[in-house]
Amino acid sequence: MKKINSHIMYGTAWKEDKTERLTLNALMAGFNSIDTANQRKHYNEEGVGKALHAFIKSTGADREEFFIQTKFTYKEGQDHRLPFDPQAEPATQVKQSFSSSLGHLQIDYIDSYVLHGPSTRFGLSERDYQVWTTMEELLSEGKVNYLGISNVNAEQLNFLFEKVEIKPSFVQNRCFARFGWDKEIREICKNNNIIYQGFSLLTANREVLTHPRVIQMSKTMNKTIPQIIFSFARQIGILPLTGTTNRKHMEEDLESVDITLTKEQVNSLTNISTRKSSSF
Ligand SMILES: NC(=O)c1ccc[n+]([C@@H]2O[C@H](COP(=O)([O-])OP(=O)(O)OC[C@H]3O[C@@H](n4cnc5c(N)ncnc54)[C@H](OP(=O)(O)O)[C@@H]3O)[C@@H](O)[C@H]2O)c1
Repeated sequence: MKKINSHIMYGTAWKEDKTERLTLNALMAGFNSIDTANQRKHYNEEGVGKALHAFIKSTGADREEFFIQTKFTYKEGQDHRLPFDPQAEPATQVKQSFSSSLGHLQIDYIDSYVLHGPSTRFGLSERDYQVWTTMEELLSEGKVNYLGISNVNAEQLNFLFEKVEIKPSFVQNRCFARFGWDKEIREICKNNNIIYQGFSLLTANREVLTHPRVIQMSKTMNKTIPQIIFSFARQIGILPLTGTTNRKHMEEDLESVDITLTKEQVNSLTNISTRKSSSF
Protein backbone atom coordinates (compact mmCIF):
# COMPACT_ATOMS: atom_id res chain seq x y z
CA MET A 1 0.00 0.00 0.00
CA LYS A 2 1.45 3.30 -1.11
CA LYS A 3 3.00 5.60 1.46
CA ILE A 4 1.83 3.79 4.53
CA ASN A 5 5.49 3.41 5.19
CA SER A 6 4.65 5.85 7.91
CA HIS A 7 4.76 4.54 11.47
CA ILE A 8 2.90 7.39 13.04
CA MET A 9 0.57 10.09 11.73
CA TYR A 10 0.54 13.72 12.74
CA GLY A 11 -2.95 14.90 13.70
CA THR A 12 -3.90 18.54 13.24
CA ALA A 13 -7.07 18.93 15.36
CA TRP A 14 -7.60 21.78 17.83
CA LYS A 15 -4.62 23.85 16.73
CA GLU A 16 -6.55 26.80 15.34
CA ASP A 17 -4.20 29.60 14.24
CA LYS A 18 -1.17 27.56 15.32
CA THR A 19 -2.02 24.83 12.79
CA GLU A 20 0.33 26.11 10.10
CA ARG A 21 3.31 26.54 12.43
CA LEU A 22 2.79 23.22 14.24
CA THR A 23 2.22 21.24 11.04
CA LEU A 24 5.36 22.78 9.59
CA ASN A 25 7.24 21.81 12.77
CA ALA A 26 5.92 18.27 12.40
CA LEU A 27 7.02 18.07 8.76
CA MET A 28 10.45 19.42 9.69
CA ALA A 29 10.70 16.88 12.52
CA GLY A 30 10.13 14.10 9.96
CA PHE A 31 6.41 13.32 9.88
CA ASN A 32 5.20 12.57 6.37
CA SER A 33 1.63 11.50 7.09
CA ILE A 34 -0.85 14.16 8.07
CA ASP A 35 -4.43 13.81 9.27
CA THR A 36 -6.91 16.66 8.99
CA ALA A 37 -10.61 17.28 8.22
CA ASN A 38 -12.76 19.82 6.43
CA GLN A 39 -14.43 20.61 9.73
CA ARG A 40 -13.54 24.14 10.75
CA LYS A 41 -15.00 23.55 14.21
CA HIS A 42 -12.02 21.37 15.16
CA TYR A 43 -9.53 21.68 12.30
CA ASN A 44 -7.91 24.41 10.24
CA GLU A 45 -7.38 22.57 6.96
CA GLU A 46 -6.18 25.73 5.28
CA GLY A 47 -3.36 26.01 7.83
CA VAL A 48 -2.32 22.44 7.01
CA GLY A 49 -2.22 23.32 3.31
CA LYS A 50 -0.07 26.40 3.96
CA ALA A 51 2.40 24.33 5.99
CA LEU A 52 2.59 21.59 3.37
CA HIS A 53 3.05 24.12 0.59
CA ALA A 54 5.74 26.02 2.51
CA PHE A 55 7.58 22.80 3.32
CA ILE A 56 7.48 21.56 -0.27
CA LYS A 57 8.63 24.95 -1.53
CA SER A 58 11.52 25.28 0.88
CA THR A 59 12.81 21.69 0.65
CA GLY A 60 12.00 20.83 -2.96
CA ALA A 61 10.17 17.71 -1.76
CA ASP A 62 7.54 16.11 -4.02
CA ARG A 63 3.87 15.97 -3.16
CA GLU A 64 4.17 12.17 -3.59
CA GLU A 65 6.39 11.97 -0.52
CA PHE A 66 3.47 12.82 1.76
CA PHE A 67 0.40 10.94 2.83
CA ILE A 68 -2.44 13.42 3.22
CA GLN A 69 -5.67 12.32 4.80
CA THR A 70 -8.76 14.47 5.19
CA LYS A 71 -12.42 13.88 6.01
CA PHE A 72 -15.97 14.59 4.98
CA THR A 73 -17.94 15.71 8.04
CA TYR A 74 -21.73 15.88 8.17
CA LYS A 75 -23.49 19.16 8.89
CA GLU A 76 -24.32 17.84 12.37
CA GLY A 77 -20.60 17.70 13.19
CA GLN A 78 -19.87 21.20 11.91
CA ASP A 79 -20.40 24.72 13.21
CA HIS A 80 -21.66 27.56 11.01
CA ARG A 81 -18.50 27.43 8.83
CA LEU A 82 -19.81 24.77 6.47
CA PRO A 83 -17.76 23.60 3.47
CA PHE A 84 -20.94 22.77 1.52
CA ASP A 85 -24.49 23.89 0.88
CA PRO A 86 -26.58 22.48 3.76
CA GLN A 87 -29.63 22.24 1.49
CA ALA A 88 -27.84 20.21 -1.18
CA GLU A 89 -28.10 16.44 -1.67
CA PRO A 90 -25.48 14.34 0.21
CA ALA A 91 -23.59 13.61 -3.03
CA THR A 92 -23.30 17.32 -3.81
CA GLN A 93 -22.19 18.07 -0.26
CA VAL A 94 -19.38 15.51 -0.53
CA LYS A 95 -18.23 16.94 -3.88
CA GLN A 96 -18.31 20.50 -2.53
CA SER A 97 -16.47 19.57 0.67
CA PHE A 98 -13.89 17.57 -1.29
CA SER A 99 -13.20 20.35 -3.74
CA SER A 100 -12.89 22.82 -0.86
CA SER A 101 -10.39 20.42 0.80
CA LEU A 102 -8.24 20.36 -2.34
CA GLY A 103 -8.29 24.17 -2.32
CA HIS A 104 -7.37 24.41 1.37
CA LEU A 105 -4.60 21.85 1.02
CA GLN A 106 -3.33 23.24 -2.32
CA ILE A 107 -3.06 19.76 -3.80
CA ASP A 108 -4.84 17.93 -6.62
CA TYR A 109 -5.46 14.55 -4.99
CA ILE A 110 -6.01 13.18 -1.50
CA ASP A 111 -4.27 10.02 -0.35
CA SER A 112 -7.00 8.96 2.04
CA TYR A 113 -10.54 10.35 2.18
CA VAL A 114 -12.42 9.47 5.33
CA LEU A 115 -16.07 9.61 6.32
CA HIS A 116 -15.72 11.33 9.70
CA GLY A 117 -18.46 9.22 11.23
CA PRO A 118 -21.75 7.55 10.33
CA SER A 119 -24.87 9.70 10.50
CA THR A 120 -26.51 7.54 13.14
CA ARG A 121 -25.27 5.96 16.35
CA PHE A 122 -26.38 2.48 15.35
CA GLY A 123 -26.33 0.98 11.88
CA LEU A 124 -25.81 2.92 8.67
CA SER A 125 -28.35 5.17 6.98
CA GLU A 126 -29.19 5.66 3.33
CA ARG A 127 -27.32 8.97 3.60
CA ASP A 128 -24.14 7.14 4.68
CA TYR A 129 -24.34 4.86 1.63
CA GLN A 130 -24.96 7.83 -0.69
CA VAL A 131 -21.94 9.59 0.78
CA TRP A 132 -19.81 6.47 0.42
CA THR A 133 -20.87 6.01 -3.21
CA THR A 134 -19.77 9.57 -3.93
CA MET A 135 -16.47 8.93 -2.20
CA GLU A 136 -16.08 5.84 -4.40
CA GLU A 137 -16.64 8.03 -7.47
CA LEU A 138 -13.86 10.38 -6.33
CA LEU A 139 -11.59 7.37 -6.04
CA SER A 140 -12.60 6.03 -9.47
CA GLU A 141 -11.86 9.46 -10.96
CA GLY A 142 -8.31 9.24 -9.56
CA LYS A 143 -8.81 12.10 -7.09
CA VAL A 144 -8.43 9.88 -4.03
CA ASN A 145 -6.20 6.85 -3.44
CA TYR A 146 -7.94 5.20 -0.49
CA LEU A 147 -11.18 5.47 1.44
CA GLY A 148 -11.66 5.29 5.17
CA ILE A 149 -14.23 5.59 7.92
CA SER A 150 -13.95 6.98 11.43
CA ASN A 151 -15.83 6.65 14.71
CA VAL A 152 -17.45 3.35 13.78
CA ASN A 153 -18.65 0.42 15.84
CA ALA A 154 -18.28 -3.21 14.78
CA GLU A 155 -21.79 -3.52 13.39
CA GLN A 156 -21.40 -0.41 11.24
CA LEU A 157 -18.03 -1.53 9.92
CA ASN A 158 -19.42 -4.96 9.01
CA PHE A 159 -22.44 -3.39 7.27
CA LEU A 160 -20.21 -1.09 5.27
CA PHE A 161 -17.81 -3.83 4.35
CA GLU A 162 -20.57 -6.12 3.15
CA LYS A 163 -22.54 -3.57 1.17
CA VAL A 164 -20.12 -1.22 -0.57
CA GLU A 165 -18.12 -1.86 -3.70
CA ILE A 166 -14.89 -0.12 -2.73
CA LYS A 167 -14.02 -1.27 0.77
CA PRO A 168 -12.46 0.97 3.40
CA SER A 169 -8.67 0.80 3.60
CA PHE A 170 -8.62 2.66 6.94
CA VAL A 171 -10.57 2.85 10.13
CA GLN A 172 -9.80 5.72 12.49
CA ASN A 173 -11.14 5.30 16.02
CA ARG A 174 -10.63 6.55 19.56
CA CYS A 175 -8.73 3.74 21.21
CA PHE A 176 -9.64 2.91 24.80
CA ALA A 177 -7.38 0.49 26.68
CA ARG A 178 -10.36 -0.53 28.80
CA PHE A 179 -12.09 -1.92 25.71
CA GLY A 180 -9.08 -4.04 24.83
CA TRP A 181 -7.66 -1.19 22.75
CA ASP A 182 -10.75 -1.40 20.48
CA LYS A 183 -10.18 -5.13 20.11
CA GLU A 184 -13.38 -6.00 18.25
CA ILE A 185 -12.81 -3.40 15.54
CA ARG A 186 -9.13 -4.23 15.27
CA GLU A 187 -10.04 -7.88 14.67
CA ILE A 188 -12.35 -6.92 11.80
CA CYS A 189 -9.62 -4.70 10.38
CA LYS A 190 -7.03 -7.46 10.64
CA ASN A 191 -9.30 -9.96 8.88
CA ASN A 192 -10.13 -7.56 6.07
CA ASN A 193 -6.82 -5.92 5.33
CA ILE A 194 -7.85 -2.56 6.80
CA ILE A 195 -5.30 -0.39 8.57
CA TYR A 196 -6.52 0.65 12.00
CA GLN A 197 -5.55 4.21 12.97
CA GLY A 198 -5.82 4.88 16.70
CA PHE A 199 -6.30 8.30 18.25
CA SER A 200 -6.46 9.49 21.88
CA LEU A 201 -4.04 6.72 22.77
CA LEU A 202 -2.69 8.98 25.53
CA THR A 203 -5.65 11.18 26.40
CA ALA A 204 -8.25 8.37 26.62
CA ASN A 205 -6.04 6.13 28.71
CA ARG A 206 -4.85 8.12 31.73
CA GLU A 207 -5.09 5.04 33.94
CA VAL A 208 -2.51 3.31 31.73
CA LEU A 209 -0.10 6.26 31.74
CA THR A 210 -0.07 6.28 35.54
CA HIS A 211 -0.07 2.50 36.02
CA PRO A 212 2.88 1.27 38.15
CA ARG A 213 3.79 -1.40 35.55
CA VAL A 214 4.02 1.24 32.83
CA ILE A 215 6.02 3.61 35.01
CA GLN A 216 8.40 0.74 35.79
CA MET A 217 8.71 -0.15 32.07
CA SER A 218 9.53 3.46 31.28
CA LYS A 219 12.29 3.52 33.93
CA THR A 220 13.80 0.18 32.95
CA MET A 221 13.81 0.94 29.24
CA ASN A 222 14.73 4.59 29.64
CA LYS A 223 11.91 5.55 27.27
CA THR A 224 9.05 7.96 27.84
CA ILE A 225 5.59 6.61 28.62
CA PRO A 226 4.11 7.98 25.36
CA GLN A 227 6.93 6.25 23.45
CA ILE A 228 6.04 2.96 25.14
CA ILE A 229 2.34 3.40 24.35
CA PHE A 230 3.01 4.22 20.68
CA SER A 231 5.42 1.26 20.31
CA PHE A 232 2.96 -1.05 21.97
CA ALA A 233 0.17 0.23 19.72
CA ARG A 234 2.24 -0.46 16.63
CA GLN A 235 3.09 -3.96 17.84
CA ILE A 236 -0.60 -4.84 18.15
CA GLY A 237 -1.31 -3.50 14.66
CA ILE A 238 -2.38 0.08 15.37
CA LEU A 239 -1.11 2.98 13.30
CA PRO A 240 -0.91 5.65 16.02
CA LEU A 241 -1.83 9.31 15.69
CA THR A 242 -0.20 12.04 17.70
CA GLY A 243 -1.21 15.66 17.74
CA THR A 244 1.53 16.86 20.05
CA THR A 245 2.28 20.59 19.98
CA ASN A 246 5.74 20.12 21.45
CA ARG A 247 8.78 19.76 19.19
CA LYS A 248 10.62 17.45 21.61
CA HIS A 249 7.54 15.23 21.88
CA MET A 250 7.33 15.14 18.07
CA GLU A 251 10.86 13.79 17.92
CA GLU A 252 10.25 11.32 20.73
CA ASP A 253 7.06 10.08 19.08
CA LEU A 254 8.88 9.53 15.77
CA GLU A 255 11.71 7.73 17.58
CA SER A 256 9.22 5.33 19.17
CA VAL A 257 9.43 3.30 15.95
CA ASP A 258 12.83 2.02 17.05
CA ILE A 259 11.52 0.57 20.30
CA THR A 260 10.50 -3.08 20.48
CA LEU A 261 8.67 -4.40 23.50
CA THR A 262 9.01 -8.01 24.56
CA LYS A 263 6.10 -10.41 24.16
CA GLU A 264 5.55 -10.26 27.93
CA GLN A 265 5.43 -6.46 27.89
CA VAL A 266 2.95 -6.49 25.00
CA ASN A 267 0.74 -9.00 26.83
CA SER A 268 0.95 -7.01 30.02
CA LEU A 269 -0.15 -3.80 28.28
CA THR A 270 -2.85 -5.53 26.25
CA ASN A 271 -4.80 -6.43 29.36
CA ILE A 272 -3.77 -3.60 31.61
CA SER A 273 -7.16 -1.97 31.86
CA THR A 274 -9.68 -4.31 30.26
CA ARG A 275 -13.31 -4.05 31.30
CA LYS A 276 -16.07 -6.36 30.20
CA SER A 277 -18.39 -4.13 28.18
CA SER A 278 -17.80 -1.68 25.36
CA SER A 279 -19.31 1.80 25.16
CA PHE A 280 -20.45 1.31 21.57
N1 LIG B 1 -11.63 11.06 13.70
C1 LIG B 1 -11.91 11.74 14.78
O1 LIG B 1 -13.08 11.94 15.13
C2 LIG B 1 -10.78 12.27 15.62
C3 LIG B 1 -11.04 12.70 16.94
C4 LIG B 1 -9.96 13.15 17.69
C5 LIG B 1 -8.68 13.19 17.15
N2 LIG B 1 -8.47 12.80 15.87
C6 LIG B 1 -7.14 12.89 15.23
O2 LIG B 1 -6.16 12.37 16.12
C7 LIG B 1 -5.17 13.37 16.37
C8 LIG B 1 -4.57 13.14 17.74
O3 LIG B 1 -5.53 13.45 18.73
P1 LIG B 1 -5.51 12.80 20.17
O4 LIG B 1 -6.93 12.75 20.64
O5 LIG B 1 -4.74 11.52 20.10
O6 LIG B 1 -4.80 13.83 21.10
P2 LIG B 1 -3.53 14.74 20.88
O7 LIG B 1 -3.99 16.00 20.25
O8 LIG B 1 -2.47 13.97 20.21
O9 LIG B 1 -3.12 15.10 22.37
C9 LIG B 1 -2.08 14.41 23.03
C10 LIG B 1 -1.89 15.05 24.38
O10 LIG B 1 -0.87 14.34 25.07
C11 LIG B 1 0.19 15.23 25.41
N3 LIG B 1 1.52 14.60 25.33
C12 LIG B 1 2.41 14.54 26.29
N4 LIG B 1 3.54 13.93 25.90
C13 LIG B 1 3.35 13.58 24.65
C14 LIG B 1 4.13 12.91 23.69
N5 LIG B 1 5.39 12.49 23.92
N6 LIG B 1 3.62 12.72 22.50
C15 LIG B 1 2.36 13.12 22.21
N7 LIG B 1 1.58 13.77 23.08
C16 LIG B 1 2.07 13.99 24.28
C17 LIG B 1 0.08 16.36 24.41
O11 LIG B 1 0.67 17.50 24.97
P3 LIG B 1 1.83 18.29 24.14
O12 LIG B 1 1.11 18.98 23.03
O13 LIG B 1 2.37 19.21 25.15
O14 LIG B 1 2.81 17.28 23.66
C18 LIG B 1 -1.42 16.49 24.26
O15 LIG B 1 -1.97 17.26 25.29
C19 LIG B 1 -5.92 14.69 16.19
O16 LIG B 1 -5.08 15.78 15.93
C20 LIG B 1 -6.77 14.34 14.98
O17 LIG B 1 -6.01 14.45 13.80
C21 LIG B 1 -9.50 12.32 15.10
